[in-house]
Amino acid sequence: MEKAEEAKRRVEELRSEIVEHDRRYYLEAAPTISDQEYDHLYRELRDLEGQYPSLVTPDSPTQRVGAGALESFVQVPHRTPMLSLDNTYSEEEVANFFRRLQRLIPGETIDAVIEPKVDGVALSILYRHGILEYAATRGNGIVGDDVTRNIRTIGAVPSRLRGAAPPEEVEVRGEVFLPKKVFAALNAERQESGEPLFANPRNTAAGSLKQLDPTLVAKRKLSAIFYGFGFVTGGNVATHQQALDRLKKWGLPTHENIWTAQSVEGVIEAIQELGRIRDDFEFEMDGAVVKVDRYDIRERLGYTSKAPRWAMAFKYQAERAETRVRSIQVYVGRSGKLTPVANLDPVFVSGTTVSRATLHNGDEIRRKDVREGDVVVIEKAGEIIPAVVAVLKERRTGKEKPFDMPERCPSCGEQVIRLPGQVDVRCTNVECPEQVKRRLQHFAHKGALDIEGLGVMMVDQLVEKGLVKRVDHIYELDEEKLGRLDRMGKRSISNLLEGIEASKKQPLWRLIFGLGILHVGATAARELANHFKTMKALQSASLDELIRVPNTGEIIGRSIRDWFQSDDNIALVRALKEHGLNFGEADHNETDGQALRGISWVITGKLSEPREIFEDLIRRNGGHVTGSVSKKTNYLLAGEDAGSKLDKARQLGIQIVDEGKFRKMIG
Ligand code: IVH
Repeated sequence: MEKAEEAKRRVEELRSEIVEHDRRYYLEAAPTISDQEYDHLYRELRDLEGQYPSLVTPDSPTQRVGAGALESFVQVPHRTPMLSLDNTYSEEEVANFFRRLQRLIPGETIDAVIEPKVDGVALSILYRHGILEYAATRGNGIVGDDVTRNIRTIGAVPSRLRGAAPPEEVEVRGEVFLPKKVFAALNAERQESGEPLFANPRNTAAGSLKQLDPTLVAKRKLSAIFYGFGFVTGGNVATHQQALDRLKKWGLPTHENIWTAQSVEGVIEAIQELGRIRDDFEFEMDGAVVKVDRYDIRERLGYTSKAPRWAMAFKYQAERAETRVRSIQVYVGRSGKLTPVANLDPVFVSGTTVSRATLHNGDEIRRKDVREGDVVVIEKAGEIIPAVVAVLKERRTGKEKPFDMPERCPSCGEQVIRLPGQVDVRCTNVECPEQVKRRLQHFAHKGALDIEGLGVMMVDQLVEKGLVKRVDHIYELDEEKLGRLDRMGKRSISNLLEGIEASKKQPLWRLIFGLGILHVGATAARELANHFKTMKALQSASLDELIRVPNTGEIIGRSIRDWFQSDDNIALVRALKEHGLNFGEADHNETDGQALRGISWVITGKLSEPREIFEDLIRRNGGHVTGSVSKKTNYLLAGEDAGSKLDKARQLGIQIVDEGKFRKMIG
């Protein structure tokens, strides 16, 4: 057999094996090979496709992650609108709903199906002749965002439907979710690396789908489950249960647990039963959907403008528990924010033991009138940190102690401030020991500068003994100073000093992350380092430039800019540079020259090299780049086919240069 033919045969074999293993893994939760073996098959396929690019097809498992980030999402119209569901927290209203159905369709038995309502992100996928054509979010119900590339990264979503005769077109409807276990692991990882925690699985799933770069989505390990059709050509199913069977035969995951009922009592019993096992599902579930099984009856009942008349969602109350507030403690965060937290008698809610709950801020405490010693109701609604929702005032004994937010910082005793229009109270003393501790802990921890020997206890000692008042002071420590600390032998001292010295060589992104700029997690720090290459370029970047970094929006951009404008931070950065930390300059020959010093540039049109190269050249020569032409722009670097930016620059009388002239300017 010829080599190419042999490759084609093997590619097909590998694809069907991989698809089968995906099915066993995602649909049956019963994989028959190890992850390693799976990776091996996957790699072989990818390598073969690399050698024979003509064999790549859009439905190949290797095409789950396409390359490069998008600028924004394209809108796609839904074939049939994506409606919402009427919902209620009351069993009585569910009973009324079912009685109404019985009244509207007299003489017929109403078969209801009851199934879990997944708390995720609604999704519609169009398969044409069984091949995934596009996937869209709900949007406004009429048009949604085209999230095809992100959806392709989800292993549970097949690129091709199984079976011989798929319809010409079918829109399948379902829900994308982040499995609870994956969510917990993701947050544990983020805690470890000092990144802010995600609030709940649904927000995380929604946020992931909004990513413009599918490689980031692929890392999130989303999943999906399907519960029905939108539009379907020649759809010859008569009931919801048949539709679910059909979806399952096509290889789409569907609910395993569904109930059927023909009476009000049956429906209520089913939603209660489902409620009892709600914690057992791999996804977060916030209710039960009750729907009419027969499609002909659905047609007769019809729709309101917002929701079908043949379905209703019953929402379960978030799990609550009663417990006592032992004390209220105020924590001082890295940025000086004071957060009141209730220490509770430990209590079991939604599968975990809870001993603390956030009280958010002083206004919240006052609004709810939470006192130390109060019996309170706490609620966990998929969130990791539970909240106090109510105080049981009738259980007061008179011994409860009202709580006011302190006027002075509990750590340093300085007066705290509350900015106009803000609920948060802050300590603005940059030398506040608690803040310094939090900052140094963050700076030194594994995910940032990773300084061995500089754990929580050591940080506490260094700050309490007054040896460190600002993060950079660790670079001034020596044997004599460390010798003043408790339980520090020669060996520990030299290990710590070595660890501190080694941190100077850490890559730039770790240093950026370690600075603890609000909203700048490890991922953002990596992107910023990649983009700007040097601390200096980051420090002098305009807001415009900052928000052009992938995944850095206005909020992160402003936070970075504000951080670098504070005198204390400027002094800190200068000191870190003097101590010889890696500012990215040695690697990137940042100081090419100052020919463009202070000059503001906009780039447009086609140039001989990617635009980033020119941006880099401008920055390395002291200039800066913005995205749009304004009065503040000094020069426009215009390539071929320049459009509206060129027109605008002409109108404003801005200097326009081509590539040749630009190169002359930088010598
Ligand atoms: S049936 C016409 N079944 O709930 C709408 N929806 O409030 C029919 N959802 O965004 C929807 N699980 O994505 C249905 N088992 C389920 C569901 C479900 C979750 C979502 C759906 C929609 C929302 C409606």
